[in-house]
Amino acid sequence: MKLLEGKIALVTGGAGGIGKATALLLAREGAKVVVNTGSNIKGGEEVVRLIKEAGCEAIFVQGDVSKAKEVEALINKAVNTYGRLDYAVNNAGIIPDVMPTAETTEESWDRTINVDLKGVWLCMKYEILQMLKQGGGSIVNVSSILGLVGTQAGVCAYVASKHGVIGLTKAAALEYAKAGIRVNTVCPGSTETPGFDKTLELSPQVRDITISITPIGRIAESEEVAEAIVWLCSGRASYVTGHAMVVDGGMIAQ
Ligand SMILES: NC(=O)c1ccc[n+]([C@@H]2O[C@H](COP(=O)([O-])OP(=O)(O)OC[C@H]3O[C@@H](n4cnc5c(N)ncnc54)[C@H](O)[C@@H]3O)[C@@H](O)[C@H]2O)c1
Repeated sequence: MKLLEGKIALVTGGAGGIGKATALLLAREGAKVVVNTGSNIKGGEEVVRLIKEAGCEAIFVQGDVSKAKEVEALINKAVNTYGRLDYAVNNAGIIPDVMPTAETTEESWDRTINVDLKGVWLCMKYEILQMLKQGGGSIVNVSSILGLVGTQAGVCAYVASKHGVIGLTKAAALEYAKAGIRVNTVCPGSTETPGFDKTLELSPQVRDITISITPIGRIAESEEVAEAIVWLCSGRASYVTGHAMVVDGGMIAQ
């Protein structure tokens, strides 16, 4: 029997990068997958097509994670389709504007915080309400190594939101531990994704600099981050909650 046979999983921001790799791995391990994205509808539908092509089950649900009504509708659609929600991976995120803290605009701050922090809280809120009804579940939030350390790169709202995701994770893990709901975070370092490619368009030197300071000596593949996410979702991590798992090739161990 497969690791996640018969389980139902949701991945937000599942159109590409870490979300796509996670959706594909969840399906390969036997879960039925609800793939969400905000605007990249084509990408989300393509991931569902790939999952079905491999003989597994998935649906695509569009919805902006920063809007409560859309998140509520997303969870309702998942539960109406598959009857329950065992695993939720809150992965959706945006590429932040690059400017020092004192030059960051209110609009830029709000845009990042709305998706990267409020979006994770909103998803957790409706996922937990469903998991309480069914008697348990497992949530994995995607933070970043920038949820644990700062950077001079000029992305203060991103750093604040990713630190916030780890705080949210710990609070919810403690609140719902006795209800059978585990809540954990994965903190990736630089990872090959469409989002990372866009960062490189702005600063091409980032790739070589990152490789030179990463102990393992390369950028992560999305699939390597997905492995950690899927393990934390699964029953193999049954005694792990409130944890922030770093997947960064040794970067912040230095
Ligand atoms: N790639 C990296 O180097 C890296 C490093 C650390 C952390 N992360 C985090 O991992 C997560 C995934 O990153 P990625 O690089 O795969 O990103 P990506 O840009 O390749 O994909 C992000 C996904 O989120 C979706 N999305 C964006 N806004 C949304 C919204 N409002 N509602 C729903 N979906 C939305 C996009 O459509 C896309 O599918 C993000 O939270 C990111 O901050 C990435």
